[in-house]
Amino acid sequence: SNEHITVIGSYVVDLMCQTPHMPQTGETVLGHSFRMGEGGKGGNQATAASRLGSMVTLVTRVGNDDFGRAALAFFEKEGIQHNRIAIDPVETTGVALILVDNNGDNQIVVSLGACGQLERADIEAAEMEIANSAIMLVQLETDLAAVEASLEFATKHAVPLILNPAPFQPFDLAWLKQVTYLTPNETEASALTGITVHDQHSAMQAANKLLEYGVKNVIITLGSKGAIIKQDHASCYWFSSFEVEVADTTGAGDAFNGGLARALSRGTPLLEAMRYASAVAALSVTRMGTAAAMPLEHDVLELMHKQGNRCIP
Ligand code: RIB
Ligand code: NA
Repeated sequence: SNEHITVIGSYVVDLMCQTPHMPQTGETVLGHSFRMGEGGKGGNQATAASRLGSMVTLVTRVGNDDFGRAALAFFEKEGIQHNRIAIDPVETTGVALILVDNNGDNQIVVSLGACGQLERADIEAAEMEIANSAIMLVQLETDLAAVEASLEFATKHAVPLILNPAPFQPFDLAWLKQVTYLTPNETEASALTGITVHDQHSAMQAANKLLEYGVKNVIITLGSKGAIIKQDHASCYWFSSFEVEVADTTGAGDAFNGGLARALSRGTPLLEAMRYASAVAALSVTRMGTAAAMPLEHDVLELMHKQGNRCIP
């Protein structure tokens, strides 16, 4: 349908445990509450958009192993199209080791495994789905060849594309001309521009620089400090974040991007789509876990109704 979303990116199994503090080099900390769940930025963003009501196709790779089979069962249960998920003949399904401290902050090491093998041919195999998409959602948690091919097919079929440059890895900035919406967080915006982004003002400066590279819309997420959006040099909007009890911030960026894709795919105006995406992210941090923590649209609308966040031009 014309509201269909194609997500291209990583799938990994998240192995998470809570810790009173992050360990120093050589230190062992007694943690607790181990949990295992579906993760990876591609998988999380696909799950977010799907739970909000979108028709979603996920393009990724898993291994020919128990984790890979469990992933397909999960996507089936979630109603996510998984016919473009390839089974890698060699690599095992990826994993992420995640530590979450008492403040809900995290440290992550991800070993991409099978989804690290995602290549141009996998994107090409999904050309029909891409051509029929209202929007595409891509991250940097794969080989850059997959990102480059995603941009190529988005341009070929004139499908608007959200690039969430996470986790940051250096790429050819000429690619930014093919990006409709770029959604870095503070760290990624800093790495992309060389400007240390830590507040609204520095975010605005970084956004200006990114516009000069040819991105059409720059959205910089600032965690609890909200988010800014810039479409041209003259205007800038800042959104405060919704106020919620933080349990686990892991996957909040994925919730935001999945929510943004969901709203834009239905033709929601950008500023309203931002508010919606912020509400999705806010709800995701109230729950432990990543894909499993993604909210349903009903809860998002309820939060938006209960709490107005501020939008300041
Ligand atoms: O954005 C959060 C995700 O990044 C986690 O689910 C983990 O898998 C890492 O890839
Ligand atoms: Na969470």
